[in-house]
Amino acid sequence: MTLTIAIDGPAAAGKGTLSRQIAEEYGFHHLDTGLTYRATAKALLDAGLPLDDEAVAERMALEVELSGLDRSILSAHAIGEAASKIAVMPAVRRALVEAQRAFSKKEPGTVLDGRDIGTVVCPDAAVKLYVTASPEVRAKRRFDEIVGNGAVADYAAIFDDVKKRDERDMGRADSPLRPADDAHLLDTSEMSIEAAFQAAKSLIDAAL
Ligand code: C5P
Repeated sequence: MTLTIAIDGPAAAGKGTLSRQIAEEYGFHHLDTGLTYRATAKALLDAGLPLDDEAVAERMALEVELSGLDRSILSAHAIGEAASKIAVMPAVRRALVEAQRAFSKKEPGTVLDGRDIGTVVCPDAAVKLYVTASPEVRAKRRFDEIVGNGAVADYAAIFDDVKKRDERDMGRADSPLRPADDAHLLDTSEMSIEAAFQAAKSLIDAAL
């Protein structure tokens, strides 16, 4: 039987790093579902197609290959913005959720991270974590990451962006970001990456 670990939370909460570490620890396959929305958005942008035509966006979503997803070519700010716009479209979500569900069944186990994994994509996941941190901490982490890469960053603009992304992800009608009723909450505001990993591992070990 496949074991699935569902990890949800807002942008820049540390889900990505945590999910990769957990997948490695348990020898499970990992899917960052945000990349499926980003890949759909990039395909539309590259083709010069509109971001507000649901049928066109659905066609792009149906063509996304899960094996070719690479965050380094999907990380641009404009792609993230476009992704969160097309993510409100039910037809896009249906297409991507179907591919994500198929991935979640891989043996011996899977870790999926996103916004709606515990609530919609894998409601029967063996363990559900909802990873969060205050908007200030998340904006500071993103700021440090950009500056650490040698680029210039504007904290106020990043903070504003984090709050806008939260509003869009939590406020949409289809699959809004929220903790599943049976999710374990993990607030990483005051935690190092290592401490967050240890806390997650204890929750997972207790549940498996
Ligand atoms: O996680 P990431 O920032 O890469 O995701 C980009 C956008 O894709 C999010 O802002 C969100 O709107 C959307 N998304 C989603 N459901 C998921 C994963 C991401 O709606 N499971």
